[in-house]
Amino acid sequence: MNLDMYAEELIYNYEHPKNKGELGRPNAKAHEENISCGDKVTIYLSVEGGIVKDVRFNGSGCVISMGTSSILTEALRGKSLSYIETYGRDRLLKLINIDPGPVRMHCATLALRALRKAALEYEHKPIDSETRDL
Ligand code: FES
Repeated sequence: MNLDMYAEELIYNYEHPKNKGELGRPNAKAHEENISCGDKVTIYLSVEGGIVKDVRFNGSGCVISMGTSSILTEALRGKSLSYIETYGRDRLLKLINIDPGPVRMHCATLALRALRKAALEYEHKPIDSETRDL
């Protein structure tokens, strides 16, 4: 893992998170936890016409999971549900600009799993294995 790049952007977003807190009236919401470490995130979406008009997160966890929650929610506001449902691990890693390696991958994908789950549940679609295994 490149700790320098990790330190710069993720630590900044961990210490100054964007979009942290609950939405007043979310019309989609999903929770994910990493059982091995206890870190958790809840995603709240405000969806209009298939577009995510607003997005917030709440949770607790490590620098990677919470920093990524901040960066990812910022990047996915204004995007369509279908875009989020197919947003994959490769795109996420480019966005956060680190390679967390296999041990910390579950940290980096925590918020994305919750985001995809919220989008799929809003559209009454089943949670696919790709989302579960991110
Ligand atoms: Fe738990 Fe990172 S150590 S999500």
